[in-house]
Amino acid sequence: MPDSPLEYLRRACQAPPMPSADWLRSAGHAVMDAMLADHLHLGEAGVGRSGTRDELEALLREPPPETGADLERVLAELETNVIGRSLRPSHPRFLAFIPAAPTFVSVLGDALAANANLFAGVWKEAAGAAQVELIVLDWFKQFLGYPREALGLLTSGGSEANLTALVVARERLAFPDRERAVLYASEHRHWSVDRAAKIIGLRPAQIRALPCDAEYRLRMDALEAAIAEDERAGRLPWLVLANAGATNTGSVDPLKAIADVCARRGLWLHVDAAYGWPICLTAEGKTLLNGIERADSITLDPHKWFAQPYEAGGLLVRDGSRLAETFRMRPEYMQDVIPNADEINFCDQGIALTRRFRALKIWFSIKLLGIAWFRQLIEHSCALAAYAEALLERAGFAITSRRKLSVVCFRYVPSSRGVRYSEPRGSDDALQLAIADELMKDGRAFISTTRLDGRNTLRFCFVNWRTSAADVELIVGLLKEIGSRLEKS
Ligand SMILES: Cc1ncc(COP(=O)(O)O)c(C=O)c1O
Repeated sequence: MPDSPLEYLRRACQAPPMPSADWLRSAGHAVMDAMLADHLHLGEAGVGRSGTRDELEALLREPPPETGADLERVLAELETNVIGRSLRPSHPRFLAFIPAAPTFVSVLGDALAANANLFAGVWKEAAGAAQVELIVLDWFKQFLGYPREALGLLTSGGSEANLTALVVARERLAFPDRERAVLYASEHRHWSVDRAAKIIGLRPAQIRALPCDAEYRLRMDALEAAIAEDERAGRLPWLVLANAGATNTGSVDPLKAIADVCARRGLWLHVDAAYGWPICLTAEGKTLLNGIERADSITLDPHKWFAQPYEAGGLLVRDGSRLAETFRMRPEYMQDVIPNADEINFCDQGIALTRRFRALKIWFSIKLLGIAWFRQLIEHSCALAAYAEALLERAGFAITSRRKLSVVCFRYVPSSRGVRYSEPRGSDDALQLAIADELMKDGRAFISTTRLDGRNTLRFCFVNWRTSAADVELIVGLLKEIGSRLEKS
């Protein structure tokens, strides 16, 4: 008997075959074993290795398989050809850029979030997720001394947070004024600010890159002069973007003085604390960040110095209602999930509608480890930077930027010259890049370079709970050895 049309249709939409519960269980254990092995032994090998496009094509290019392969084989391929062809920001001797080293508790939290797959965009669909995000943001506000009424959201990272802040701050400008609005920031701002400004349609001339003092902090005289000049010229001073932990040096701009200027002149103050914000957990940081509580908005990234896996950025806005005023949309297909007055749809607070449950990993790790653990992490990182600075000086390096938060910058000084940073410009500039490159090839550590005062400089950034004094000793020794070898050649 042939199928009736209804039976035929029914058979066509039966669920596709899925792996059995037994297979899932053994795969789950195998994946967890692989993750733990990686987590526990990460520091024992080198920082990882990269590869050329040709090499990676040869290793990984294939047509999509019609049938599934063996788990063991795929895990081995992942370990060797994918993770094995990458540098590891969580490695204890990865001190380049601003690294990240999540705790395993946070990794588990992220896995739980992926599995639950809650839709963290609207309250009615995932009230639990929204409430946890509110609580995590409230904890951050409390750490920073920020007003309780402020609101915010978790973002993919600092770039999205900075962009979101600029959109909110721009919203209060009348359309004709947007053309003449001016943003002020130090020459050491993060480039995500320039990109955000570009996205919102600012011309490059609407960004004032202002000079810094000897400690790489925004100069107040330059800020005041630029504002006055723009006012005279009929432009509209609009927003000051202050660093709380500049990417290059870790410097913190004079937040209190900047807040005074902004208050006096009615300018929006946005603090980019993407990297530096967790210093507020320490006594040193409370003094350093004094004034941040007066900001109109703050970028803060848990995936930098707060031991969370990518992606976890965040934004706080003092007058929280501005977020929804800027982003809220009410399309007809969302009419069933309009929140009650005391509820919050996080899709109304920013750019994304569909959002993963980012707050879970943060909440999970704070609850399981306690804030004391995070405070120790920050103090440990600062102590490592101070120790590195002392070792570098003893080994004859020139310190180009003394420890700020957990960043220290330095140059290798050729032995013929003696430790004097005021060497003729450029004379040993290429050597600094060559040293970093050689260290990368060695594979035992990875550091990055940047430019300060027009010259190349080496740089350490410590954010990793795995990094120890022995790691610092090893890296300083390696740099010294590489420097003297390259200098002779
Ligand atoms: C000060 C600062 N702001 C913003 C960003 C951008 O953050 P993300 O890379 O998470 O987009 C960074 C990244 O290093 C940063 O250091």
